[in-house]
Amino acid sequence: MSPGSLRVSKIRNGTVIDHITKGHALDVIKILGINGRSGGTVTIAMNVQSSKLGVKDIVKIEGRELNSEEVDKIALIAPHATINIIRNYRVAEKLTVKLPSVVRGIVKCIKPSCISNNSSEPIKSIFYLEEADPLKLRCHYCNNIMEEKDILQQF
Ligand code: CTP
Ligand code: ZN
Repeated sequence: MSPGSLRVSKIRNGTVIDHITKGHALDVIKILGINGRSGGTVTIAMNVQSSKLGVKDIVKIEGRELNSEEVDKIALIAPHATINIIRNYRVAEKLTVKLPSVVRGIVKCIKPSCISNNSSEPIKSIFYLEEADPLKLRCHYCNNIMEEKDILQQF
């Protein structure tokens, strides 16, 4: 640890989301619906030195284990993130998120006229990964390209 740096304490039970792409810690918080008005302690560390990423963000959530749906959403905006499930101070599970080539049912097409938004005919959204960083998804039904900001707006 370099002089002057602050070590964030270990947690007892919960989830540590590590190796978040810098600048995206607050998006992760938003995706998880955390508003600080309920639940356990949440620690956010931004611009932490990392050998792998240069600089990274970290989010620690005490008393909550993420489910697979939440992990899939995080993959969209932090494709290098590691999800560590902590039980009794130990890393009980380590999940590496993966940006899928096809994204189903997680985000909606922003084009109102898209057939996937026709409420009388519920169709599961399907997008293809066009670009990973910055994120770009292409709608299977209308070919509309969704940018990262369009996707973040939905969470
Ligand atoms: N961690 C924590 N509380 C614990 C255990 C671990 O907050 N009780 C955090 C660590 O500080 C680290 C992350 O969880 O940010 C993963 O822990 P660990 O696997 O021990 O660290 P590394 O080996 O550095 O992980 P990686 O190989 O994924 O970089
Ligand atoms: Zn569409």
